[in-house]
Amino acid sequence: MSQVQPEILVTGGAGYIGSHTVLALQRAGYNVVVLDNLVCGHREFVEEILKAKLVIGDVGDRTLLDQIFASHNIAAVLHFAAYIAVGESVIYPAKYYRNNVSGTLTLLEAMVAADVKTLVFPSTCAVYGMPQEVPMTEVHPQNPINPYATSKWMMERMLADFDHAYQLRFIVFRFFNAAGANPEGLLGEDHYPETHLIPLVLWTVLGKRDSIAIWGTDYSTPDGTCLRDYIHVSDLADAHILGLEYLLQGGKSEIFNLGSGNGFSVRQVIDTAKQVTQKEIKIIECDRRPGDAPILVGSSDKARKILGWSAKYPELSKIISDAWQWHQRRHH
Ligand SMILES: NC(=O)c1ccc[n+]([C@@H]2O[C@H](COP(=O)([O-])OP(=O)(O)OC[C@H]3O[C@@H](n4cnc5c(N)ncnc54)[C@H](O)[C@@H]3O)[C@@H](O)[C@H]2O)c1
Repeated sequence: MSQVQPEILVTGGAGYIGSHTVLALQRAGYNVVVLDNLVCGHREFVEEILKAKLVIGDVGDRTLLDQIFASHNIAAVLHFAAYIAVGESVIYPAKYYRNNVSGTLTLLEAMVAADVKTLVFPSTCAVYGMPQEVPMTEVHPQNPINPYATSKWMMERMLADFDHAYQLRFIVFRFFNAAGANPEGLLGEDHYPETHLIPLVLWTVLGKRDSIAIWGTDYSTPDGTCLRDYIHVSDLADAHILGLEYLLQGGKSEIFNLGSGNGFSVRQVIDTAKQVTQKEIKIIECDRRPGDAPILVGSSDKARKILGWSAKYPELSKIISDAWQWHQRRHH
């Protein structure tokens, strides 16, 4: 009798980080099924570039999930599907709780029913809220300050309860600012609306925007602008493979930060983008935005110790030049 090959279900695999992780999974020898409703994702990433199986549908659709689990030999789930825009979540909180929290609950119930009990889950450093100390470690108090971050925190709590009740084993990665693009130029970041600094700076270079705003120039940081911890998306993808393998080898549920441990200021990002692109960038200096912490930098010591993970591409210039290569091709 022929054995059905085990597969990894990647929800949100048509999105930015999910698609890079599908590529990393394929390169590590895994068979992949992507579930994405394409509300924010890109069909061509999955079908043309990755040539992976794509099921177009919603993680909140229990009937569809039952069909997927019945027709594939799913060994584990990597669950990227979520809405991610902080500002939008403040205006439309129900949209975030319904999609992110309720969708995840449906997925977890379907997993337990199908006896699939291995999950890797991307969370966010935003669950910590305003930093009480930096670099932040996994034991930093959690006080999310917007509905997006709260939705992620609630999902983390649900995972802990499902582990306790059903032995569903999980890895939570709380990552800092995902950035960059596949170094070979195959995949990259394409969010609409875009809210992340590096693509917005590069859009300004490409003339898709007139200028880039710096929100606050009087913080107590070396150049007065906020410091953030940027992590190359391919390094994030690799971490998800390590987390998956740790669980498949019998590891217990764990929460890990993923960051480079380095803070780069908004001005450093803009200056590096000028060097990489060899173009001038028009800046508008604005007042501080409410809710922006001066410094958000994470310690990844735990991921280094337990998973053996470290960032291959910690340099800001590499992160920005990979993103630039992608954006030039995507928006030429
Ligand atoms: N981008 C970052 O800097 C960052 C930082 C921390 C955490 N994260 C987390 O990483 C994950 C991926 O982020 P991203 O930047 O790749 O976002 P993205 O918007 O590019 O990808 C999310 C994907 O999920 C899909 N999706 C959303 N809701 C769905 C649903 N109900 N059913 C099926 N598919 C659905 C979208 O179509 C999209 O393809 C998210 O869970 C996000 O919270 C991202």
